[in-house]
Amino acid sequence: MKLSTKTMTAALGIAGAMSFSAAMAAPNWSGVPAKDVQLFYPGQSSWEWVLTDHPGAEKFRAGKDCAACHIGDEKNMGALLVSGKKNEAAPIPGKPGSIDAKVQFEHDAQNMYVHLEFSEGSQPNSKMDSAYDTKVTMMLDGGGVPEANRAGCWGACHDDSAGMPSAGNSDRTMYLPKTRAHLTRQGGGDALVPADALAKLKADGYSLEYWQARLNPGSPATAENGVIFDKLAATKPTAVTAEATYKDGVWSVTLSRKLDAGVGFVPLVAGKRYTVAFAIHAGHTAKRFHYVSFERSLILDQGNADFVVEKK
Ligand code: HEC
Repeated sequence: MKLSTKTMTAALGIAGAMSFSAAMAAPNWSGVPAKDVQLFYPGQSSWEWVLTDHPGAEKFRAGKDCAACHIGDEKNMGALLVSGKKNEAAPIPGKPGSIDAKVQFEHDAQNMYVHLEFSEGSQPNSKMDSAYDTKVTMMLDGGGVPEANRAGCWGACHDDSAGMPSAGNSDRTMYLPKTRAHLTRQGGGDALVPADALAKLKADGYSLEYWQARLNPGSPATAENGVIFDKLAATKPTAVTAEATYKDGVWSVTLSRKLDAGVGFVPLVAGKRYTVAFAIHAGHTAKRFHYVSFERSLILDQGNADFVVEKK
């Protein structure tokens, strides 16, 4: 279906026009401050594992965030986890353990842009996703998800999500802990809190947004966005745009959306503190077989954060 949409748009000449207008608006990244973000292969290290059986569990529960202990150690962690020696039941032979990305942000009066540049190294073809070679995702927390403020994507990664140790044959997606009636070491299962409690969580901003670029070398990028709440679900229509080039083994990917993208999207305003984290699926992988970063704080215009997004 994705392919046919793409073919249809191309046939109508719309794809060309769209990438033209997006290219007009996208920043010139050469003068924008960049930060290095290491993404590593996390294996089956779930939220429930990090809270219980993991060496940092006690200190994390006492208030120390993941990034505070782990930033700088991602390469070693990825090498260990991808090897299958720890927290990984189905290692992919020959897969690199980590990816180094250069990350930049900028905004103008209408839009925020994020730019990632990285080489994915020599990736074996896992054949899990036949449509896309690579997928680049940014998770965005508007501040209403305490678990993500402290642990980025781990706030949504559970022991019983698809392919995780307690999933059985379930295809359960990522979800946020407080949407579940009972959370155990094995995850939250499918029993949700009552509808009024769910509605209250949602109204209080307890959900995560994601922006995704779906990529094949030599083809225009496809954008998707969505929300993680009681499950992960794509949001339509798509508010995010994606552009990408692949040259000499290096991906250069820009995602953007309007600062105010309407109902269901985190409003992006100056001075507010956000949490972002990144994921890259490389080598035709799907679901949990990605690289992830630890959490980073983000603020527009000025303030104290890992990323201070300047206005161009
Ligand atoms: C107090 C420090 C601390 C905090 C906070 C912490 N960890 Fe750890 N974590 C450790 C230590 C120590 C190890 C074992 C690493 C080793 O033996 O070299 C570890 C191991 C891991 C591993 C397995 C890879 C490995 O190298 O063994 C993962 C994955 C991990 N942590 C994820 C997280 C996540 C996600 C969070 C936040 C939810 C987190 N950690 C918070 C200290 C911490």
